[in-house]
Amino acid sequence: MTNKQLNIGIFGFGNVGQGLYEVLQKSPSTKASIKKVVVRQKNKARSISQDLVSFNPDDILQNAEINTVAELIDNADDALKIVTQALKAGKNVVSGNKKMIAENLTNLLELQVETGSSLLYDASACGSIPVIRNLEEYYDNDLLKGITGILNGSSNYILTQMHRHNASYNNALKEAQEKGFAESDPTFDVDGYDAMYKLIILALHGFGTIVKPEDIFFTGISNIQACDIQLAREKGKKIKLIARAFKTENVKIALLVAPAFVGPESYIYNVDEEFNGVIIEGEAYDEQLMFGKGAGSHPTGSAVLSDITAMSYNYKYEYKKRKFFTPPTQTNDVSIKVYFRYQQANVPDLLPLQSIEEQYSGPNYQYTVGTVKLADLLNTKDILRKFEVFTALHDYKSK
Ligand code: HSE
Repeated sequence: MTNKQLNIGIFGFGNVGQGLYEVLQKSPSTKASIKKVVVRQKNKARSISQDLVSFNPDDILQNAEINTVAELIDNADDALKIVTQALKAGKNVVSGNKKMIAENLTNLLELQVETGSSLLYDASACGSIPVIRNLEEYYDNDLLKGITGILNGSSNYILTQMHRHNASYNNALKEAQEKGFAESDPTFDVDGYDAMYKLIILALHGFGTIVKPEDIFFTGISNIQACDIQLAREKGKKIKLIARAFKTENVKIALLVAPAFVGPESYIYNVDEEFNGVIIEGEAYDEQLMFGKGAGSHPTGSAVLSDITAMSYNYKYEYKKRKFFTPPTQTNDVSIKVYFRYQQANVPDLLPLQSIEEQYSGPNYQYTVGTVKLADLLNTKDILRKFEVFTALHDYKSK
C-alpha cells in the first residue's frame, strides 16, 4: 500500500466544494493539498485564497502537478466533459454528480479500463454514509436481496416537517434550501430524480446491473397534501420517499422510487430530517441499516475527502458484481400495491389497476388503493402527472 501525496484540483466551489475545503482543514494529517480551484462565476466572494482560484479548466486539466481531480459542479454535461478529460489526462477523479454518473455508467466504466485511472463517487449517493464502498467491498457476494433507502435528504426533511409540525410543503422546501440540502433546481429532489439516479448507482454496486433512467418508474412528493400525511398518521405510519432495488422471484431485479407508507416496524421509520437510511437485505443476515447524514456541505465534503484519501493507496472500484457474477437483468414485471390520491372522479378509470382493495370518496379528495404492475405504472406516468395523482406505495415491501 502506497501513501502518495495528493495534489488536488477542484472544479466548483459551491456547497460541496466549500465543504471539502473546510473538512480538509480539519484533517491536517491527510497528505493532500489543494493546488487550484476552478470556478465559473467571476464576481463571487469565496473564503479561499485568490491565488488558488482560476476560471480556466486547463489550469487543472493541463497541470501535470495535479494528480487528483474533485469534480463538484452542478451541470451534468459539463461534469462529464471534465471527468472524461481528467481521466484521459491520467488523473484520478472524484465526483459527486449522480446524474452524470448514473446516465453514463457504461461509458465511465470503459474509460476507467482504457485510461487506468480511477473514478470514485461515494459522495454521489447518501453523502457521508459509505454505501457504495460497502456494497462493493463488504457485500461482495451474491447474497444481497434488496437495497431500500431514503436517499434524498431534502424530501425527507420536508416530509418530517410536514409530519411533525404540520408545516406547509412550500415552507419546508424553503428551509431545506436555506440549510443547503436542496439541489439548485429543487424539482430534482422533490420529483424523485435525485433518488432515482442514486438508486441506479447503488444497483450497479449491489447487483452489477446497469439500468437506464427511462426504464425506472419514479415519482416524488411534489404533489403531496396534508390529507396524505393525515391518513398516514391515522394508520400509525409516516410517508417517506423510498428508493428500492430488489431481486424478484425469477431472479431479476426491479427498481422503483416513490413515496411509501412506512410503519414503525421498519428500520427507516425513524430516519427523519435530512438523514438518509439504507436497508440492506440479504439471504443470510436478514436486514441491516446504514444511517447518517446524506446531504449538506460538511457530510458530503467528508465523503469526497474519503474518496480522495482512498486515491492515496490507489483504490479503484473493481465492479465486482460484474466481474465475478452474471448481473441480473432488470424487470418491471412485478405487481405492487399502490395508494393513488386525486381530485377528479374519473381517475380510477385511467389507472392500470389489476385489483382494487380500498376506495374513498370525500368532499375534498378521493383515493384508491389497488394492485398494479410496475411496467403499467411506468407507462401511466404522464397520466399521473397530468391529473396530479399523488402516488405512494401502500407498503414499500408490498407485492
Ligand atoms: N439534494 C440532495 C439531497 C443532496 O437532498 O439528498 C445530496 O445528494
